[in-house]
Amino acid sequence: MPELLDLHPKPADMRALVIEGLSRNPKQLPAWFLYDAEGSRLFELIGEQPEYTLTATETALLEQQAQAIAAALGPGTLVEFGAGSARKVAPLLGALRDPAYVALDISAEHLAQACGRLQRQFPTVPMLGICCDYTQLQQLPPHPLISGSAHLGFFPGSSLGNFEPDAAIALLAQFRRLLGPGGQLLIGIDQPKAVERLEAAYNDAAGISAAFALNLLQRLNRDLQGNFDPEAFRYRARWLPEASHIEMALVSQRAQEVDVAGQRWCFAVGEALITETSAKYSPEAFVRLAAAAGWRGQARWSDGANDLSLHLLVQAD
Ligand code: AVJ
Repeated sequence: MPELLDLHPKPADMRALVIEGLSRNPKQLPAWFLYDAEGSRLFELIGEQPEYTLTATETALLEQQAQAIAAALGPGTLVEFGAGSARKVAPLLGALRDPAYVALDISAEHLAQACGRLQRQFPTVPMLGICCDYTQLQQLPPHPLISGSAHLGFFPGSSLGNFEPDAAIALLAQFRRLLGPGGQLLIGIDQPKAVERLEAAYNDAAGISAAFALNLLQRLNRDLQGNFDPEAFRYRARWLPEASHIEMALVSQRAQEVDVAGQRWCFAVGEALITETSAKYSPEAFVRLAAAAGWRGQARWSDGANDLSLHLLVQAD
């Protein structure tokens, strides 16, 4: 079993974030609250739904291009932000000369399982798992696996889309500091496409996307002493063209009061709790965003249909 470090946010920090998020108008929580053990399991199922092509497309692209990507990467430890099931990194570990791997994820149980499975697949690759909210990580913790200076960031799945543009730039700048001078970042970015396809991807017929969002309420009930009635909320996902993002929300079906995080909250009928937003960027728009954070595009690989791109970024100075 690879070593695991537990830097998960403490209950008091989670409580403060929930109070802050529910005090907003509209109400919105950081997307990582979706990923308790059950949420991580449901997210893996989303990746298997026929309407949600992102996971399969990106996985295939990584498999096809692993050699070319490995050839463009310098030395350094591969650091994955939000590793989830850690399946996408396998082709890279297979193609790199002497890889070492650090997986960061918010979900401790899921991370332990994923690292265990990956270590069995790659018994000689040094690995470390860190359970944390990567947006709050000021530096990579001191550890023999991350002693060198330049690291290779891996941020697949278009998870950057969960952050509003300002926060996305701040996160990319933070990754730049974490990875050190000379570091590189391989990042998967989903591109805008037909509205019907986008909305279908977040409204799968099997109802897994809805279950994933509604699980947030069970999580809040359990971990923050809430009394949400999941039956009193309905899942809604819609494309907002001005923001170039999908907005996912739980819409209150009646006027109601909910206790959570030690406070009472009013929901009007039709009021939304935004569970996450998922922004889509054209390659040009993404390269501009990355430039604002001090990154320069070094290479880009795309699938045949131009649904998504893997961008390799290098530090601009
Ligand atoms: C993991 C943030 C990339 O936005 O497509 C998928 C999350 N939520 N379906 C996405 C998600 C519901 C996913 N990211």
